[in-house]
Amino acid sequence: MDRAAVDELRLESMRRSVRLLYERNRQRGHAAWCDRDYDFVCPSSVTYPFQWFWDSCFHAIALSHLDTARAESEIAGLLANQQPDGFIAHVTFWQREAYLDRLSSYAIAYRTPYISDCIQPPLLAEAVMAVAARGRGAAYLREVLPAVRRYYDWLRDVRDPDRDGLIAVLQADETGLDHSPKFDAELGLSGDVGDDYTAAWHRVADPYAEVGRDPARMFALDRFIDEDVMINTIYAENQRVLGELLAQVGERDAAADFAARATRTKDALVAKCWDPEAGLFWDLAGLDEHPLRTSTITSLFPLLLPDLDAAIAARLVTQLEDPATYAAPWPVPSVSRAEPSFRPGRAGDDLVWRGATWVNTNWYLARGLRRHGRPDLARRIEDATAALIERWGFREYYDALTGEGHGAPDFSWSAVILDLLEARSTEDAVSRVREEPAAGGS
Ligand code: GLC
Repeated sequence: MDRAAVDELRLESMRRSVRLLYERNRQRGHAAWCDRDYDFVCPSSVTYPFQWFWDSCFHAIALSHLDTARAESEIAGLLANQQPDGFIAHVTFWQREAYLDRLSSYAIAYRTPYISDCIQPPLLAEAVMAVAARGRGAAYLREVLPAVRRYYDWLRDVRDPDRDGLIAVLQADETGLDHSPKFDAELGLSGDVGDDYTAAWHRVADPYAEVGRDPARMFALDRFIDEDVMINTIYAENQRVLGELLAQVGERDAAADFAARATRTKDALVAKCWDPEAGLFWDLAGLDEHPLRTSTITSLFPLLLPDLDAAIAARLVTQLEDPATYAAPWPVPSVSRAEPSFRPGRAGDDLVWRGATWVNTNWYLARGLRRHGRPDLARRIEDATAALIERWGFREYYDALTGEGHGAPDFSWSAVILDLLEARSTEDAVSRVREEPAAGGS
C-alpha cells in the first residue's frame, strides 16, 4: 500500500475513535444558575467534568471535522458567561451541584461560584477560525467576532499593564502548564516529588484574595507574574488570526489593528525573550522581568509563528532534532531531557508537565515545523502521536521514553491529532493534483 492509502486508513479510524470519545465525554443539560442550555465536551468524565477554556478550544477544532453544529455549541459555551469587561473564565462549572464532593479538593480561584477567576492560553480565535471555515463561514463570524474581540481587548487592557505587547499570567495554573519545573524556584519549590503544590498555590492566591483579586493590585503585589513564552506565542498567533477573520467580514480597520498587535507581540518575544546563546526563548518573571532559564517545550513555541526569523526558527529545529534535548523516542517531551527536573512519564502524584509528551503541544509544534519548511520532521511527530493514541488510547499525556499513556483516561484534547491528520491529507491531495496535472486526460 502506498503512503497516501495508509494515511487515509489511519485517518478514517481516528475519525471513528474521536466520534465515540466525544459521545462519551459529551455534557448536555440546562443550567438553572444562568438559565441556559449547555452542550460541550468535558476534558475527561472521570477527572474533569466541567468546561475548561483551552481544552474546549481544542475540542471545537477537533469537532469542526465531525459536526460543526456541536463545534459551535462548544464555543457558545465559552462565550455564554463572558463577563461585561470581556473576561472569559478558565473553568465554567455548569453542573456544579452534581460534583460538590470533587470541588472541595480543587485549588481554584472563583469569580462566582460557577466560573473561575483565571485565564488559560488564549486560542479562542484559532478555534473560531476552524469552526467558521468548515461551517457557516462569514455568517458565523459576524455572530461571534464582537465577543471574541472584547476578549482579546481585555487581555491587552488588563494583562499587559506595561504595554510591551506581552501579556502576563498571575498564577501558574493560568498557563495551563500547572506543575512545569520552570516555576519551581518562583514558587519556592525544590523540585522533589514531595513538594506541596497546594501550599504553593495558596502562597500566591491568598494575598490576591486579600486585595479582592483586583488585577492592578495583584500585579503590584509581585507574587507571581509570568510573561510566558507559550501564552504569548499563542496570543500573537491568535491576534494574527483574528485580524484575518475581521478582514473576512470587511472590518478593515480592526483587521489592521489586530495584525499590528500580532506583530508587536512577536517582536517583543524576539526582543525580550530570545536568548541567542542558548538558542531558546525564556519566560520573563516578576516586575523586574527576570528570565526563567529552564528549558521546557514553551522555549520552542515561537516556531509556530509564520513570520519568525528563519535563522531563529532553524535554531529551534536543531533542538527538536537533538536527542540530548527534545528528540525523545516519543516526541516532544514537555521538558528538555537535559534538565535535571526532566521526568519522562508520571511525576509524583498527579504532577503534570514535568517532561511527558502531550498531544496539544505536538499539534502546535508540528504545524510550526510545516510553516518553517520541515514537513519531514512534522510528519515524524504526527505519526508518533497517532501511534501513541492507537496503542494507549486518548490519554492526558504519554511517557516520552516508553510511550506509556498516563493521567486522565479518555482525555478529550488528545483528539486534536485529528486536525493534523486531516490537514496533511488535504495538503497531500493538493500536491498530488499539482504533480499530475495531466492525469485527468487534458
Ligand atoms: C490540567 C492541565 C490544564 C487543563 C486541565 C483540564 O489542569 O494542566 O492545562 O486545562 O487539566 O484538562
